[in-house]
Amino acid sequence: MRLCVLASGSGTNLQAIIDACEKGFISANVVKVISNKKDAYALERARQKGIPSKFIDPKSFRDRKSYDEKIAEEVEEAGADLIVLAGYMLLLTPEFVKRYPYRITNIHPALCPAFPGTHAIKDAIEYRVKVTGVTVHFVDEGMDTGPIILQYPVFVEDDDTVESLEEKIHKVEHKLYPLALRLISLGQIDIQGRHIKILDKDWKKYLEGDDLPW
Ligand code: GAR
Repeated sequence: MRLCVLASGSGTNLQAIIDACEKGFISANVVKVISNKKDAYALERARQKGIPSKFIDPKSFRDRKSYDEKIAEEVEEAGADLIVLAGYMLLLTPEFVKRYPYRITNIHPALCPAFPGTHAIKDAIEYRVKVTGVTVHFVDEGMDTGPIILQYPVFVEDDDTVESLEEKIHKVEHKLYPLALRLISLGQIDIQGRHIKILDKDWKKYLEGDDLPW
């Protein structure tokens, strides 16, 4: 499977995906990385691995629709099967989403549908929830609303801060996203509308303990 990753930030999830592909845990390769931010460290991570990477400036396009048309062009050029959003902080246009049904994935640092948007970890701390977590889902036209592939909980302790919770969430993310992509790459999911059934009933075993599953 050929993955095109879109990222806006430091790219720790991108890194976990690249590593998991290299180790054969995901049956796929990252073939292109695109960012809407010039200084996104995700681009540097791609360069270090010799993966084609590109900053595409939204300001050079007349609107979001034409920006996403350019992204689609890049996806096609890369021959990507799956578009993987990894900390991509732009909402995709409905036209783009419609073009790729069940072919765009996203990771969100909360248990959807709780805390959508760009400040999910801060929102969870301010709400003082006792449990939050991580969601990997297919992308639909809404904000973090698409069909859920995997979710995993993270407990929030009384002394947790945004920073400490972020650290715990990232640890889960770096296993959960590769696992979701592994299941997709191995055909271990059965898509029935919003209901994404996981055929590997043992999937939770990959998330137990501190070790990486690859
Ligand atoms: C991740 O925590 C991801 O869940 C979040 O951005 C971070 C990117 O980190 N995404 C969202 O909030 C999407 N709504 P990274 O650049 O180190 O992978």
